[in-house]
Amino acid sequence: MMGIAYLAAERVFQLDTPNTTYLIGIVGTEGFLGHLYYGKKLNSVQGAESLFRLEEPPYTPDTNARERLDFLDTFPTEYSGHGVGDFRESSIRVKDKNGHSAVQLFYVSHEIYRGKRALEGLPATFGSEDQVTTLVITCEDPVLKLRARLSYSVFQDTDCIARSVSFENAGDDALYLEKAMSMCLDMDNRDFQVCSLHGSWGRERHIEWNRLGRGSFRVASLRGESSQQEHPFLALASPDITQEQGEVYGFHFVYSGNFLAQAQVSQFDSVRVVMGINPEDFCWKLEAGEGFQAPEAILIYSCRGLDFMTQNLHDLYRSHLIRSPYLHRKRPVLINNWEGTYFDFDEKKLLEIAKESAALGIEMLVMDDGWFGNRFDDARALGDWRVNEEKLKGGLKALVDQVNGLGMKFGMWFEPEMISGDSDLYRAHPDWAFALPDREPCRHRNQYVLDISRREVRDCILERMFAVLHSANVEYVKWDMNRSLSDVAGIGLPKDRQGEIYHRYVLGMYEMQERLIAEFPDLLLENCSAGGARFDPGMLYYSPQIWCTDDTDAIERLAIQEGTAMLYPLSAMGAHVSVCPNHATGRVTPFATRGNVALAGTFGYELDMTKLKPEDKELVRGQVALYHRFNDLIREGVYHRLASLRENHDYDCFQICSRDGGEALVFYIEGMKRPNQRSRFQRLRGLEGEALYRICVADPKEAGLLQDTGNIMSGDVLMNAGIKLERLWGDFGSRILYLKRE
Ligand code: DGJ
Repeated sequence: MMGIAYLAAERVFQLDTPNTTYLIGIVGTEGFLGHLYYGKKLNSVQGAESLFRLEEPPYTPDTNARERLDFLDTFPTEYSGHGVGDFRESSIRVKDKNGHSAVQLFYVSHEIYRGKRALEGLPATFGSEDQVTTLVITCEDPVLKLRARLSYSVFQDTDCIARSVSFENAGDDALYLEKAMSMCLDMDNRDFQVCSLHGSWGRERHIEWNRLGRGSFRVASLRGESSQQEHPFLALASPDITQEQGEVYGFHFVYSGNFLAQAQVSQFDSVRVVMGINPEDFCWKLEAGEGFQAPEAILIYSCRGLDFMTQNLHDLYRSHLIRSPYLHRKRPVLINNWEGTYFDFDEKKLLEIAKESAALGIEMLVMDDGWFGNRFDDARALGDWRVNEEKLKGGLKALVDQVNGLGMKFGMWFEPEMISGDSDLYRAHPDWAFALPDREPCRHRNQYVLDISRREVRDCILERMFAVLHSANVEYVKWDMNRSLSDVAGIGLPKDRQGEIYHRYVLGMYEMQERLIAEFPDLLLENCSAGGARFDPGMLYYSPQIWCTDDTDAIERLAIQEGTAMLYPLSAMGAHVSVCPNHATGRVTPFATRGNVALAGTFGYELDMTKLKPEDKELVRGQVALYHRFNDLIREGVYHRLASLRENHDYDCFQICSRDGGEALVFYIEGMKRPNQRSRFQRLRGLEGEALYRICVADPKEAGLLQDTGNIMSGDVLMNAGIKLERLWGDFGSRILYLKRE
């Protein structure tokens, strides 16, 4: 079948994407499931049997039972067991009725089918029968009677492979899954470098490279969310890796809670990568007959450098993960009042901002935190999702109608997963907040976390949200989540199921988002978590865009947007223009640069438009026009990272190219000014070599938005010699260049 074949004589599964091949083999009479190959596409797999390495000691146990242990400890497996001889990282650990935790899985059967089944209760990639083929290999531990179904989907239009695992307890006794990784990949080390994304509040997803040494390199979260600190992503790359060349294996987890991603180098210099739900604080009880679905992991191999990995992930997420009707549409340019007013607003203030903004072409007003209960500051009212009519006199509908009357859409903020100690909800249901018996739960930003693993909690919150959303023409929701989980205890669950709560919480949150978008199918949902603490592929299944970071400083954002764009399409990246001195850093940057950086994301403003200087307001008008002129290209185009301020301390540069090479935008942003600098040539990518391109500057001040430089250059010159980047005057200058094929 397209993309996947079973070579019965060799007992090998061959999975092909447009440019990669993945081989799995069944080995020995017992049916060990071995990993044979993952890399560049093999047009012929003749001789692949030798990849089994069976002719070298310690041989398979069929041939050499004396060294079974050595076999298990070196065998490259598709899914590592636990406790019976493979001492590298296990993929699974199961506590049985005797308290033992050994597991070993053997091949039983397989199925290959067109399309891809949904993962119950979980976000996952999808595709039609023409686009995707799936292989499901059923394995079993004959002693535990535990079945594991390893699922692999290959796509016709991207090089990504989606993997997941589901389990079924086919025995008579309860089992406890203590670890259930979503993927495992063994291969020989090739002097790999490891890439990860790390951060903090306001500093999310900074790219970091390390040499992969012996031992383990791991990134993980135990915060109940994918987190600002570490990202559910790892990549292993050859030492010569650049944006354009070298090999890279990327692994990205479609999940929004505790995770573990680890690369381990063994005594024989092989590497094992595992990725899945963090086994710490995880234990899932499987009664006889029950099942468990582990989330999906995405694998991508590129032998054409990092850009190719990035482009494949962008394509996968745009074509096979994001479901929103807004995916391929321009999002309304929004003005959010958060940095403009914080909690200090009423309907008059919001309308003033809206009026001023509408006159400049802004299309939607988003009312952020502070509109509900007695929310005059962040110490109270989360959970009391009813409009504060002291602030919004006349109520929500009156406000929204007036905003609509200005020709603008209206959006609003919620933080559905949280509860304030000082709230009517808490007074009515103190036991709905996570708390451990006899311990005072930790507050963060004065708030507690609701136990949304409980159905009645989810129902109550959604009912309140829906009532508000049905009461007026609300077309956008920002779903925020401003703290990590702690003091996690589930009063609805028995003690041997307490290890399920973190995951049940995530499932509960997914279910709430699903119900929200089902109730309001045309809603534009933007996820957010204290900035970007839950910016992960899982959330993209529900919302086409995610607020990237609370750091609206354009220059600080360059590294954040660079790390984010390495994995996510620009159409997913919430980015706004705010005032200076910036509220997160105190830095002052040109208004034009703030616009240029935000244009590379979903684009909007986060300030009090009534206080903006007239010359900046003029720029707003031009920036909005630029957004309309170029957003189709930015949203759908092919992204290339050209230079990084983070690395060169001089300038940042990236390019977005149309798929046919007919037009391109080059974003160029300088760091701090230094004297006596010369212009430089930046090589471009993705153009048509023999075509000629007219070079313009995209300028919000220009009536037609484009300033023709008069230069016409061939794609070959631009890609090999480069485009001239003139030095700009002052700190943090920037330019967007527009190239159009003649
Ligand atoms: C954190 C978000 O990231 C901000 O944009 C803002 O919505 C605040 N929360 C409001 O409390």
